[in-house]
Amino acid sequence: CGIVGYVGPQSALQVVVDGLARLEYRGYDSAGVAVLGGGALHTEKRAGKLANLRGALEEHPITGEGAGIGHTRWATHGAPNDVNAHPHVDNDNRVAVVHNGIIENFAALRLELEDAGCKFTSETDTEVAAHLLSTELAARGDGDLAAAMRAVCKRLEGAFTLVAVSVDDPDLVVAARRNSPLVVGRGQGENFLASDVAAFIAHTRDAVELGQDQVVELRPDSVRVTDYDGVPVEVNEYHVDWDASAAEKGGYDYFMLKEIVEQPRAIADTLLGRLSVGGELTLDEMRLSAQDLRSVEKIVIIACGTSYHAGLIAKYAIEHWCRIPCEVEVASEFRYRDPILDRQTLVIAISQSGESMDTLMAVRYAREQRAKVLAICNVNGSTIPRESDGVLYTHAGPEVGVAATKTFLTQLAACYLIGLYLAQVRGLKFGDEIDAVIAQLATMPEHVEKVLDTVGPVRELARSLSDADTVLFLGRHVGYPVAMEGALKLKELAYMHAEAFAAGELKHGPIALIEEGLPVVVVVPSPQGRSVLHDKIVSNIQEVRARGARTIVIAEEGDESVRPYSDVLIEIPAVPTLLQPIVATVPMQVFACELALAKGNDVDQPRNLAKSVTVE
Ligand code: G6P
Repeated sequence: CGIVGYVGPQSALQVVVDGLARLEYRGYDSAGVAVLGGGALHTEKRAGKLANLRGALEEHPITGEGAGIGHTRWATHGAPNDVNAHPHVDNDNRVAVVHNGIIENFAALRLELEDAGCKFTSETDTEVAAHLLSTELAARGDGDLAAAMRAVCKRLEGAFTLVAVSVDDPDLVVAARRNSPLVVGRGQGENFLASDVAAFIAHTRDAVELGQDQVVELRPDSVRVTDYDGVPVEVNEYHVDWDASAAEKGGYDYFMLKEIVEQPRAIADTLLGRLSVGGELTLDEMRLSAQDLRSVEKIVIIACGTSYHAGLIAKYAIEHWCRIPCEVEVASEFRYRDPILDRQTLVIAISQSGESMDTLMAVRYAREQRAKVLAICNVNGSTIPRESDGVLYTHAGPEVGVAATKTFLTQLAACYLIGLYLAQVRGLKFGDEIDAVIAQLATMPEHVEKVLDTVGPVRELARSLSDADTVLFLGRHVGYPVAMEGALKLKELAYMHAEAFAAGELKHGPIALIEEGLPVVVVVPSPQGRSVLHDKIVSNIQEVRARGARTIVIAEEGDESVRPYSDVLIEIPAVPTLLQPIVATVPMQVFACELALAKGNDVDQPRNLAKSVTVE
């Protein structure tokens, strides 16, 4: 997840380890370095915090006057342990590689390399890159690491940043970028490379941003960038004027703001390799067999907080697509009510941290009752996935802000994947609906990007409401859990009273709360398809407005029917109703975050809250 490279007169080991320390804020589960010296490659890596790596380096000091690379890992393939930590080396210990991202076709490449005699030591996708580079270098015979890197990249599918060093050329670091970030820092007689500028800002502020599908050769006195065919390309040079703490946050004042913006990438990474162009789903790392999934008669989703809201939304999708009864329950209530579970029950435990004690206890309880447990989790190797029968990891990357944002949207993506996969293995088609949804799911990152481009007015609105005492949220169908998530965000971040209601329940009580000027946020379902649902909510908007509420309406672009009743209209892209939560949640996150900032609150660390709650 964090990458550092250095070539120049300073001790590469020192520069790289210091750089990794500056990337610690990104979150990681293991760390490692490789340094060239004396015609050899020296590698050290350790699971856990950087202190473990530093301890190992004290015990077995490594020296080297050549280039160095380092990495802090956030596990995707393979548990977070010493062996799976980066760098990875080839069998002759001549090439070392660190990697961010996911190599989608690694399984096929691994088989091919094993057939050719390569011995794998780790479970990572990264190790294939080390063996491929070494094989390519051997075939070329000219020691040209950059050319070998270009050839290797052409064979890799997925999103990645790869950085490599080779004993044949000790003053060279080569890196390739596809999608995952990579920045070069230019110094005097030395050059740096990192996943973000925070790693080298203490040495230089002159940066070069690498583009998609580019390879860089870094030597003490030169930076050469080419495309995958070796053709030199123009690069974008810039001067970094952030201070070190802003640099950690990618120039944002808070991690939460950065994480909200990262959502399109996070969703794309979660779908990567699981959704084929032809509409087939592959969830082979999930560990539950098709037969297990075909025999499921009931689904119970358990989770806490924001993850619970993802579960509520999943219910609508799974029941509709798969026709399997699905219950959703907060984990802290689940095991105390003697729930009915058996071998045909699939329990889906959703937890971004994989450590929430309430959810963990519910998982243990469910397994004792012989139910199958499938976890949806963002932290590889955490307790809940380890104790479950299967897992689908969300690839949101580390989330530092305590209030969940990108992990929530990726949990939704994971829930949809599971629902569609269940439909697929059970042979359900529903006309062409399933295929159409699979195709539309792939376009969600673009839609979220679009929402992010148009949230300026939401920020203004939030600032204007910083004195409000209470905000109500209304929704129907999947819009109801979205409204719940909007209210939760406002409580967590702005410490305001906020409450969500199913819009149809309004008349049964909550409407008594409406008074002059009360802000009411309404999530409006798409007018296409289920127009009854849409029309009902338009009536609900009118009802609250007639009683003095200030209506803030989140509706599909082009939905003119709501305009006359909206004091503020927030438009979101038109997507199928069941997928709408992915786009409708984003303005709510921005709204709560901006309102909290207007009140002077720390949105990354709201009072009284913890990122993962490990007590019941
Ligand atoms: C804490 C966090 C919430 C999160 C909830 C569930 O309360 O502050 O943001 O939604 O735990 O966490 P989990 O890691 O299980 O998803």
